[in-house]
Formats: sequence, structure tokens, C-alpha cells
Amino acid sequence: MSIIRRRGWELSDRLATPEHLVFNRRGLLAGGASALALMAGPAYAQRVTDLANIPDPSADLYPAKHNEKYVLDRPITDEKINSNYNNFYEFNSTKNVAQQAQALPIRPWMVKIDGLVEKPFEIGIDELIRKMTLEERTYRHRCVEAWSMAIAWTGFPVAKLVEFAKPLGSAKYLRMETFNNPKVAPGLKQSWYPWPYVEGLSMAEATNELAFLATGAYGHPIAKQMGAPLRLAVPWKYGFKSIKSIVRFSFVEQRPKGMWEALQASEYGFWANVNPEVPHPRWSQASEEVIGTGERRPTLLFNGYGDYVASLYSDMKSERLWA
Ligand code: MTE
Repeated sequence: MSIIRRRGWELSDRLATPEHLVFNRRGLLAGGASALALMAGPAYAQRVTDLANIPDPSADLYPAKHNEKYVLDRPITDEKINSNYNNFYEFNSTKNVAQQAQALPIRPWMVKIDGLVEKPFEIGIDELIRKMTLEERTYRHRCVEAWSMAIAWTGFPVAKLVEFAKPLGSAKYLRMETFNNPKVAPGLKQSWYPWPYVEGLSMAEATNELAFLATGAYGHPIAKQMGAPLRLAVPWKYGFKSIKSIVRFSFVEQRPKGMWEALQASEYGFWANVNPEVPHPRWSQASEEVIGTGERRPTLLFNGYGDYVASLYSDMKSERLWA
């Protein structure tokens, strides 16, 4: 029998009632439809703010055990610097999204698993997290904009989610989707972006040992601007593949089109593996600025993770693997 430690506001009914029902019941007047907002006025606004700031119910799981296998060739980027230099276009298209991102309510947070699976289902993020064993890994992160960071993520391998989802043999790709609520994220009102943010991996990539779902960073639950409560980390690919704040995983047969690919296919492809020798159409990818240090380093093929992933692409010579 396992003993579940509970914290603060967590009520015992969480253990017996599906997460979304518990939160809906508690938040009925607070978190409901906008019609209620009009009726309730400032009180509603206050409750929405309160909901956005609920203490994280998974906090007791951090820090998780560190996995020594994935070593870095550079120091971890300072957390303050990392959490104030982010790409999260749902909020805005500058690096300065930290403050705006705090408006995102991350509980309740339902994750849908559908498509080519034995049985589609939805699961609350806390139930999902507690079904997985969290570990800490240090990974490099190389943005397509030619900057990089190094991060201590906490989470679990995508392969574990795949196992849990029970996909059918016909599933060829994993499609992931970010929340799409323009009421909390004003960038979603910008109709020239093909929202929602979507990204995909082949099943071989998704089950590669490096593919990781981060629920935390720097020894605690992941910050909202970094993709709370669930974000992908695929360190051998350009950063735009690492989709944030995921609400849906679909197992599909057709290759999914990511948001950036849908917007500008000539610049952002499906595979998007890091290669210093293949420039982006508008800039070189030969080197990167290490954020927070001012240092410029040569970029490594597969961002230095070739030993883990190069074999995934050995028979794909005709594919556009690098942009
Ligand atoms: N996911 C969503 N939903 N929206 C985004 O704008 N930006 C991507 C990726 N995931 C993005 C996203 C890009 S371009 C990068 S480089 C990384 O997130 C940035 O992650 P970071 O802010 O934690 O460094």
C-alpha cells in the first residue's frame, strides 16, 4: 500500500473524485463561464486570480532523484535568467512573458489522450504525475534563434506516457497540443498564428530515452512561463519542438503539422534536428549564444546528443531533417 502525503489545501476528496470534478465543484462560481464573470464582476476576477495562484499540489514530489546519466558540458543556466527569457507566444512574442504567464490557471489541468489508442481518456495532471516516477535530468536546450541554455528538468520519459496511453500498432506519430484560451493568454487573439500550438514526434522519437516530459525545473514544479504544468524536452531538436503547457496527446497515422511549420514551412520543418552546418534560411546555425554568460559556443550536431538519436534518422536520407 502506498502512502500519499498531502499538503495544504489538498482535500481528501481529491483522492476519491476525479480531479476535474473536484476543481469544478470548488471553483463553480469562481472558475465557470464568462457569463458568470459578468454577473459576479470584480469578485469573479479575484477568484480567477486566486485559482491561478493555488499552491502546487505536486510540490512534495520535489526535488526528485537526480539521474546521473545525462551530463552537461556547461554550467546550468541561472534560474532567474532562464525564467525571465522565454518564448511563449500564447502570451506575447517577446522574451518577457514571465509576468503575463502567471495568469494561466494550472489546476485543474486535464490532459486528453486520444486517437489511435485502445481507449481514449482524460486524466488530471496530478493523477498523471503520481502515476509516473519523477526524476531530474540536466539537458542542453538550443533554440532555433541561435541561443542556448542548460536546465535541470524534473519529469518522466515520454516513453512512460506512451506505455500508459496504450497506442495501437497503427499509430505512427504523437501529436501534442497546448491550451488555447485567449481569455488568459492574449497572444491567442492574434489570428495570424495558426493556434493552437501543435508539435509532433514520430513514435520512434517519442519512445527514445531522451524524449522527456517536464513537470518541474530547478528542483520544484515548473514555472508557468516555462510551460507548466507539462512541457516537452527533446534536447537534440531546435527548441520550438519542445511544446509547453500540453493539454492533449493524440496518437495518429499522419505526420502532424506543428504551428511553426504551418506558419512558415520553408523555415521550420517537422524534424528540426540541430545541425550547425545547415543554416536557417535567415541566419547561420553554426554557433549559439549561451544565455546569461555572453559566451558564443560552436553548436553541436544533434546538439551533442547524436549517440542517443542519430540512428533514428539513418534511413531517412531523403527527408529534410535539419530545419
Ligand atoms: N510552446 C508553446 N506552447 N508556445 C511557444 O511559444 N515556444 C517554443 C517552445 N515551446 C513555445 C513553446 C520555443 S521557440 C522555445 S525556444 C521554447 O519553448 C522556449 O522554452 P523556454 O522559454 O523554457 O526557454
